[in-house]
Amino acid sequence: MDFFTYRENQLYAEDLPVKQLAEEFGTPLYVYSRASLEQRYQAYAEPLAGRPHLICYAVKANANLGVLNVLARLGSGFDIVSAGELERVLAAGGDPARVVFSGVGKQTEEIRRALTVGIKCFNVESIAELERIEAVAEEMGQVAPISIRVNPDVDPKTHPYISTGLKANKFGIAFDLAREVYQQAASLQHIKIIGVDCHIGSQITQLSPFLDALDRILLLVDQLKEDGIEIHHLDLGGGLGVRYQDETPPTPAEYVAALLERLGDREFELIFEPGRAIAANAGILLTQVEYLKEGEEKNFAIVDAAMNDLLRPALYDAWQGIIPASIKEDGSNKAWDIVGPVCETGDFLGKDRELNLTAGDLLAVTSAGAYGFAMASNYNSRNRPAEVIVDGAEAHLARQRETYEQQMAGEQCLPK
Ligand code: LLP
Repeated sequence: MDFFTYRENQLYAEDLPVKQLAEEFGTPLYVYSRASLEQRYQAYAEPLAGRPHLICYAVKANANLGVLNVLARLGSGFDIVSAGELERVLAAGGDPARVVFSGVGKQTEEIRRALTVGIKCFNVESIAELERIEAVAEEMGQVAPISIRVNPDVDPKTHPYISTGLKANKFGIAFDLAREVYQQAASLQHIKIIGVDCHIGSQITQLSPFLDALDRILLLVDQLKEDGIEIHHLDLGGGLGVRYQDETPPTPAEYVAALLERLGDREFELIFEPGRAIAANAGILLTQVEYLKEGEEKNFAIVDAAMNDLLRPALYDAWQGIIPASIKEDGSNKAWDIVGPVCETGDFLGKDRELNLTAGDLLAVTSAGAYGFAMASNYNSRNRPAEVIVDGAEAHLARQRETYEQQMAGEQCLPK
């Protein structure tokens, strides 16, 4: 929240009052802080200085071209999970040689495109995928650089929908099978083994699951060495949690320091795939109160943002802060459910929030920079919001508000 602060009771994004942004660009509006994105990227890069490393920002967290461009200018790499994300990285000036490609369902065309532009590494999630990459690379007369995504079977102690490193999850190759799969990969002509990869989940607020996963990966690397397979890099995935309410996750510096300590003098290139830790607290969602509806049991504030704009509360029962754009001197707080106009009971942004509200007020949903716009939809045929990047006292429209024409583009009625 450091770049979203109050000055004389007015909420600012860097040096601009958010009220001014709402007036200029309308609501609902995603607002990102460039300085915050940069600071959070550097929080990873600085403790890694002096040793080979690559920070591959997880594009899925926030794929806006402006956001990707801010990171590309810092030399960031990118973790992608689709050809669409790859095209975005390229359009934003990202370097394909710094791209790693994760995801369980890579399609032939996507593999071909990634080989054509020359990505750094495919994070392979199954034997079938390994064989498909071999076939595509052979057909193209190329050699595909790969790592195997190993499922270390550790419990990241996070929400079940975003935990990915357990045996019961669809991701990666089981730890006990990994050695064998590496041997198979080593026998393929058009595959070059360069790393080991793992990603155990998201919004992880403790160090121990990361360290447990690293221990298992190091064990595997030693076994691979016995088999004559040399590993150049370790990709430790993303997953570091952030503070939404009262969580106390390790800072990126603490997280990196703990991993480096565990690694000792082993000299692998280290790859990280942070998404949330870079983007979440670099963004807010501005929304205006349309109506107040006071009831016997509940008070509802109906705002102009809804679950289609910000899905996390509805989907995961996730808590995100909701704060006023202007702090009022008079009036008093009351408990409000902040709800959107979508026709579902699950359409809420927050429940029982103590706020001093009047219709027309402007509110900010905090920690909305990651998995916010990225998960927005047109449900209820609502146009998706605009996105603005604030840079000091300047606002850059990074994505125009969608129009009804754009929403319907590509659809057509029947000829008769
Ligand atoms: N790498 C891989 C292979 C991933 O699957 C993910 C996220 C990341 C990196 C980035 O993880 P992060 O550093 O952001 O935790 N929609 C959910 C989060 C889903 C995360 C999916 N994978 C939410 O809103 O909480």
